[in-house]
Amino acid sequence: MPTNSARYSKIMIVIHWLTALAVVGAWLTSEGGRHMVENPPLLHFSLGLAVLVLIVPRLILLLTGGAPDVGRKRDRLAIATKAGHVALYLFLIALPLTGWYAASRMGVPVSFFGLELPAIAAPVKGRPGLIAELHENAGTFILYVAGLHALMALWHQFVLRDGTLQRMSLR
Ligand code: HEM
Ligand code: HEM
Repeated sequence: MPTNSARYSKIMIVIHWLTALAVVGAWLTSEGGRHMVENPPLLHFSLGLAVLVLIVPRLILLLTGGAPDVGRKRDRLAIATKAGHVALYLFLIALPLTGWYAASRMGVPVSFFGLELPAIAAPVKGRPGLIAELHENAGTFILYVAGLHALMALWHQFVLRDGTLQRMSLR
């Protein structure tokens, strides 16, 4: 396997690691159930929304050539890598949006590090609904997907020795 140490741009690398920290932070500060109406987990909201904020410049950079060419043939491994990254991006967009929706349905005010945001759905009295349940389950599932992604990155680096980890490192 040829080495491909062409790096992501510095800003893409910083966004990658900030996003990873925000996802883990959002998971660690998450809670469910109606008691969150009295005591909303504001840090969970802020860290989760940071993921959504960070995805905007990230996608713009990605679409304008901020990611290096994978430099491999369009083989199965390259296609699986792309599919894995697309899945991660879908989670990174869907999770904060479904969380925001769930909070709105529960009538819980949402803020982003002190900045109050509008509700994106009308509040309901009973259970917040299917999207809230999807959010709770996907919120944990993304950690499995990201864990598999990290294992694949380590496998590339230490078994295939193709320099993958350097592509996402500042030094
Ligand atoms: C919640 C945690 C994480 C998320 C959401 C995440 C997400 C992503 C995404 C979406 C990409 C694709 C970038 C692009 O081409 O646009 C990527 C690339 C990459 N990630 Fe992560 N990542 C996480 C954690 C990690 C960890 C822990 C490692 C290292 C062990 C890692 C190593 C890499 C590497 C090396 C690449 C570049 C792969 C390549 O270009 O072939 N990531 N990550
Ligand atoms: C990457 C970002 C996020 C992750 C990983 C995540 C993860 C989770 C997890 C695992 C739960 C279930 C906790 C439990 O049942 O004990 C949860 C619940 C919840 N999250 Fe998030 N979340 C994220 C973003 C957000 C955002 C941005 C908001 C709101 C603006 C939000 C609002 C909520 C609400 C309201 C619940 C409770 C839902 C219910 O009880 O039905 N989340 N989140």
